[in-house]
Amino acid sequence: MIELRDATKIYKGEAYETKAIDHMDLTIEDGAFVAIMGRSGSGKTTLLNIVGCMDSLTSGELFIDGEKLSGLSEHKVGLVRRDKISFIFQNYALMQHYTVYENIELPLNARNCKPKDKKKAVNEIMEKLDIAHLASKFPRQISGGEQQRTAIARAMVSGCKYILADEPTGALDSMTAGELMKLFQMMHEAGKTILVVTHDNEVAAYAQKTIIISDGKIDNIKENK
Ligand SMILES: Nc1ncnc2c1ncn2[C@@H]1O[C@H](COP(=O)(O)OP(=O)(O)OP(=O)(O)O)[C@@H](O)[C@H]1O
Ligand SMILES: [Mg+2]
Repeated sequence: MIELRDATKIYKGEAYETKAIDHMDLTIEDGAFVAIMGRSGSGKTTLLNIVGCMDSLTSGELFIDGEKLSGLSEHKVGLVRRDKISFIFQNYALMQHYTVYENIELPLNARNCKPKDKKKAVNEIMEKLDIAHLASKFPRQISGGEQQRTAIARAMVSGCKYILADEPTGALDSMTAGELMKLFQMMHEAGKTILVVTHDNEVAAYAQKTIIISDGKIDNIKENK
């Protein structure tokens, strides 16, 4: 479970001070599939970065599985991120000098995973996402949709329970939003907890509920059918 308690994030520079998250309380239960919507600049990416331990709060608390993040050392926060959080970025963030296979294998290298188990896990997930035939290709040699499936395969193989995605359908080419969201549904059915930021109502409709953010606050929570 992810919990924000009275969470505030202020970006401060010499000439600006922006309150991107404003005294927010939020609970994401395990196994939830949540869409986050709101106009540009409302704080969606900031919220995802905070929840994903990529950035820290100015005040308030974040708890992940009951563990308070603000009390932890940099190193321990890094371990929480590695073991629990998987990001799917809009540009997929694949390593350009690694093959599809190596990209998917990456999160397993950070763990003590036997080579045999690693190979089995990577091959299984590649089969599932229909990219096994691309194993030895590099990201620049495959289509946008295939890159997206590679990024999803990497997130799935990681074993992380929380999957965070910031506008994953924003740069679609060969895969439609519907096809991509079916993969998200598959991850959800596999027990992952999913937070997806989107501008697209159709994408949000795949989630169980939609949280609408406005000026760093929760404006509305809508349960989907
Ligand atoms: N690194 C930063 N430094 C300073 N201000 C920032 C930074 N990142 C975001 N902001 C500001 O914080 C507010 C929230 O930004 P955020 O990126 O979270 O919005 P968003 O909802 O993701 O918008 P979009 O839909 O355009 O991606 C905005 O006013 C933005 O200008
Ligand atoms: Mg954003």
